[in-house]
Amino acid sequence: MNISKVGVLGAGTMGAGIAQVAAQAGHRVVLVDVNKDALEKAQNNFQTIFSRLVEKGKMTNEQMIETSNKISYSSSFDSFSSCGIVIEAIIEKIEVKHVVFAQLEKIVSDDCILASNTSSLSIASIGSVLKCPNRIIGIHFFNPAPLMPLVEIIPAVQTSEATLNYSKALIDSWGKITVLTKDTPGFIVNRVARPFYGEALRIYEEGIADFATIDWAMTSIGGFKMGPFTLMDYIGNDINYAVTESVFTAFYYDPRFKPSFTQKRHSEAGFYGRKSGRGYYDYTEGVEMPKPNEDLIVAQQIFDRIIAMLINEAFDALFMNVATREDIDLAMTKGVNYPKGLLQWADDLGLDNVLSKLEDLFSEYGEDRYRPNPLLKRMAREKHSFTV
Ligand code: NAI
Repeated sequence: MNISKVGVLGAGTMGAGIAQVAAQAGHRVVLVDVNKDALEKAQNNFQTIFSRLVEKGKMTNEQMIETSNKISYSSSFDSFSSCGIVIEAIIEKIEVKHVVFAQLEKIVSDDCILASNTSSLSIASIGSVLKCPNRIIGIHFFNPAPLMPLVEIIPAVQTSEATLNYSKALIDSWGKITVLTKDTPGFIVNRVARPFYGEALRIYEEGIADFATIDWAMTSIGGFKMGPFTLMDYIGNDINYAVTESVFTAFYYDPRFKPSFTQKRHSEAGFYGRKSGRGYYDYTEGVEMPKPNEDLIVAQQIFDRIIAMLINEAFDALFMNVATREDIDLAMTKGVNYPKGLLQWADDLGLDNVLSKLEDLFSEYGEDRYRPNPLLKRMAREKHSFTV
């Protein structure tokens, strides 16, 4: 790789994390933000993080000094002139990204790769403002970037083979697990994970169970580290709702992705979750968490319904060639810590069983949301599985 200097635009949560990963991988990094306070905060945070790594014996004092010295801070785009790649991680607004990418291209060298860390916007659209659009690519890290191993690599229709190969090799060399995904809404993870939240909210809205019981069903039977409501409170209902709404809109209002009023109202009320002290749960000190109804029959029904919907979505991503079978499973285990890949899970549960659960839901509700994916139907009919 001849990329020695890495540019990161945006010193917020993601930009700072990406800059840290690149510096720890040995690159010189320039972190640029229009907001000087954000730069200062990022710099202070690095000091705290690196000192903690030294305390834990994961970094020597010399390495800490060396890594800190690799990162420079600037509020001018001119600092990107000698970078081999610039990764953008600013506000999630297409109009702002368009202006910024057009400006960036005027400053960087002809062969500099321009990447976006966007979660939900089209890479093709971001690249459309470039004179040399074959240098655009999506490089999507997960939060917190230094800890989460997964990175989705998203070539747009304009992206050249060279840009793709260089970008993938670079991120692989940073010790990350890369998966290749089509430039479609939500890429792999933010598309396939939607039913984990959406179906849990739907089950709650129908009055089948409360938040604590649904969470308990998914952690105790499914082995998920967090139940859907705990996780939404952790991510923030404002953020999680915005992603759902954007995926729903981008999929031309496919009912599979329909957002929920419960989440919208929680978000409107400022019940964001942990960060605001209240979400689906009350995080005020001294307040006890509600207890689940530990009825195994109800829990099994909840789990069966949510897992069937997740598996259906994973099948759809495979059916529509969003990514390979291996990458779809890797994405969910390494990007959102699922205990098992969903296609592997489908095999373990039996494709017939998953299909029959979806058919029951479809016939009960008559809603398009529950339609079984054609690939699942075909594989179940032909008695195929992924492992045999
Ligand atoms: P953030 O709000 O923490 O940070 C954004 C930073 O960009 C701020 O420091 C802001 O001052 C700066 N900024 C805004 N406009 C700018 C401009 N025109 N020029 C230079 N700097 C500018 O945002 P966050 O959460 O880090 O997200 C950034 C991007 O990463 C978004 O596209 C988001 O969708 C994506 N992303 C976010 C994840 C998350 O969990 N927060 C996960 C993966 C991707």
